[in-house]
Amino acid sequence: MSHDLTSLYAQHIATLRARADKALSLGGFDHLLVAASTPLRKFLDDQDYPFVANPHFRHWLPLTDTPGSWVIYTPGHKPKLIFVQPRDYWHVVPAAPNGYWVDAFDIRIVRTAAEAVAALPKGKRAVIAPHCPEIEGMEVNHPQAVTDYLHWHRSYKTPYELALMREANHVGARAHRAAEKAFRAGESELGIHLAYLAAARQTDAELPYSSIVGLNEHSAVLHYTNFDRTPPKQQHSFLIDAGGSAAGYASDITRTYAAAGHSDFQALIDSVEKAQLGFVAKVKAGQSYPDLHIHAHHVLADVLREHGVIDMSAESAVQSGVTATFFPHGLGHPIGLQVHDVAGFQASESGGYIPRPEGHPYLRMTRALEPGMVVTIEPGLYFIDMLLEELRNTPAAKDIDWAKVDAFRPYGGIRIEDDVVCTHDEPENLTRDAFAMLN
Ligand code: GLY
Ligand code: MN
Ligand code: MN
Repeated sequence: MSHDLTSLYAQHIATLRARADKALSLGGFDHLLVAASTPLRKFLDDQDYPFVANPHFRHWLPLTDTPGSWVIYTPGHKPKLIFVQPRDYWHVVPAAPNGYWVDAFDIRIVRTAAEAVAALPKGKRAVIAPHCPEIEGMEVNHPQAVTDYLHWHRSYKTPYELALMREANHVGARAHRAAEKAFRAGESELGIHLAYLAAARQTDAELPYSSIVGLNEHSAVLHYTNFDRTPPKQQHSFLIDAGGSAAGYASDITRTYAAAGHSDFQALIDSVEKAQLGFVAKVKAGQSYPDLHIHAHHVLADVLREHGVIDMSAESAVQSGVTATFFPHGLGHPIGLQVHDVAGFQASESGGYIPRPEGHPYLRMTRALEPGMVVTIEPGLYFIDMLLEELRNTPAAKDIDWAKVDAFRPYGGIRIEDDVVCTHDEPENLTRDAFAMLN
């Protein structure tokens, strides 16, 4: 893979330089300074939280574990990397720079974060860094004209970034297969999680987000991140929402399984999957994402009716908020350097905000799709006690088959999630392609 990445990376850096040229000129700055950042210290402790490098830094370099380092970009000059390689025998120190990316940088090695700060150029500086003690005294300004422009353009992935996101999906798909196997073998949630990590060959801290591994009714907790140590007495269902990382890029994948013999729930999964593939097919240039989200509500209403859960038209199920009881989150979000990537609501490269459609408070993407964007498509149907209780007290309650609802409760819910690239043509489904390559 590295071989292909060399030329893709040269092109990626050329794109980033051109974007930074424009962003700096918009803000009237001489230099762009991007900190890797430094680890956060736990309160009253000598331990740090797991380190997560500034996504702006990871945009320039495939370096995820070089605290204290900086990228410096000055228009007209080769980008510089101030690389912190501490003299330290307590911890592993970052290896000397090597790999396909080093030729794109002038690299200076220093020993401390403070030395790195001292090496930064003076002048009018756009500084993108979290506040941290190691850079005390240094102004961190995140100039909005600069960040708006950079965030907007981060939506359009370069071929290099797409290659890394394919890899992140390969990691995730491989690990999902192992997780399904562990589920079929009757493992506990923790057992499944450990099987996932082993197959991903990544630690928890390296994953792009905390994995959701829910058996039975736990699948109804949207962000369920407990891991039961013992398997349930009876297996009904399994929902896993877990990704992988590749050089700082994320995948975000969800699959839902019925235990053997649970054919009604399997049929519901099949319907959600068919609907999901229909939404993926609509990831095309010009498609409004919020319109696709509303469309999903209508299609999922039909699924609920076909399975006898509701007895009303799709239109009235959406209007009355019934679909929001069963599908209470957004259809998806931009993904890239962050699992919920930036600029999902941005109106233009100079900022602005596109509000969510009324009644859809959890949608994370209100823009129209354009080639180069990567979004998740993750419809779901859930049986969530809290929301069902609310529904019982509305006039629409009479059009719900509560016995059916009760029959589905022990399964928790369904979500199916793929990462999809909008192209000039048909969408590229990074996740399905990765699963297909396992066969
Ligand atoms: N895994 C978080 C999400 O699907 O957005
Ligand atoms: Mn997601
Ligand atoms: Mn997810």
